[in-house]
Amino acid sequence: WFTFNISWNNFILHLVNNNYIMKNSYSNIFVFNKKTLKKAVDYLSKSNVVGLPTETVYGLGGNAYSKKSIKKIFRLKGRPKFNPLIIHYYSLKDAVKDIFINNHFIKLYKKFCPGPITFILKKKNGSKINPLSLAKLKTIAVRFPKHKITRSILKEIKFPLAMPSANKSTGISPVSARDVFEEFQKKIPLIINGGVSKIGIESTVIDLTAYPKILRPGRIHKNLIEKTLKIKMKKNIKNRSIKSPGMMKKHYSPGIPVLINQKKYDGESAFIYLGHRYKNKKKFFSLSKNSSLDEAASNLYKTFRLIKKKGYKKIQISKIPNVGSGIAINDRIKRASKS
Ligand code: TXA
Ligand code: MG
Repeated sequence: WFTFNISWNNFILHLVNNNYIMKNSYSNIFVFNKKTLKKAVDYLSKSNVVGLPTETVYGLGGNAYSKKSIKKIFRLKGRPKFNPLIIHYYSLKDAVKDIFINNHFIKLYKKFCPGPITFILKKKNGSKINPLSLAKLKTIAVRFPKHKITRSILKEIKFPLAMPSANKSTGISPVSARDVFEEFQKKIPLIINGGVSKIGIESTVIDLTAYPKILRPGRIHKNLIEKTLKIKMKKNIKNRSIKSPGMMKKHYSPGIPVLINQKKYDGESAFIYLGHRYKNKKKFFSLSKNSSLDEAASNLYKTFRLIKKKGYKKIQISKIPNVGSGIAINDRIKRASKS
């Protein structure tokens, strides 16, 4: 019996080492080439949804004109119907079929697009975007993602993509193809591997239907936007109504308790901090060795997932400066701490 057990283990190990098992269980993750581009276009055109890389986080993309696609997205994510999706375009020429543009938009578009920013604009009546994806609102969230792979897919298809982050509702966004696999396994037919997302947190969402207002902070932050528009915006807005449902309190949860602004280590939790003070200490996780807030933001979700995988029961996070990308980090960890 003992011998059998050992040789059985060796056999499994052999399979793993030779990639049989990995290959099999990851078989819906594909590298990008002509063949998989065609595959993605085919799936999307037939109202299937696929996992796609963007520079911010990975998305769960579907045909924004198709009710069937939109329903699939909401079902897979377990997303409440009142939370609208961002519509992703290849070019401005495509987007103006659906939205009214204005001067603020043009300035920001010229400066940052394609890139990690999403604009809330008024919807045109003739728009073919499926109303379910907009939670029946009269506004549309539009984004022009920068990632080469998703841009080449957007260029091929004849419709824009409704694309939320590819995670279950209230969880944390995926920043790699494997993260997407962890969320949906083979419930989606295709995940395109585009490497680790560079920005690592979701796009800045800015409402341009009236005086500009940031609804979700991101890598492109308030100061940059103010400089570009030559205006001053109000301080952080409080969520009166659910203007941007990503502002729901319970969100971005890694599934274990998160404590923020921590000064004293409790001896058991995973401790997240900036810098290199606890370098080589086992339960300490630095978001950026040289305390860069951009880098810290890009490592946040990665670190959450790593900590969860290592089996920690709780996360402590030290105080993060509330400037630049620190504003986006604080927004996400504050919500994570509420759930
Ligand atoms: O970086 C990103 O934006 C990623 C990648 C995949 O593009 N997408 C993303 O989508 O973060 P999602 O669905 O996880 O977040 C979309 C956010 C939500 O907070 C939603 O409430 C808000 O955008 N939103 C969408 N349409 C809106 C609208 N018409 N008015 C206000 N907020 C809107
Ligand atoms: Mg999301």
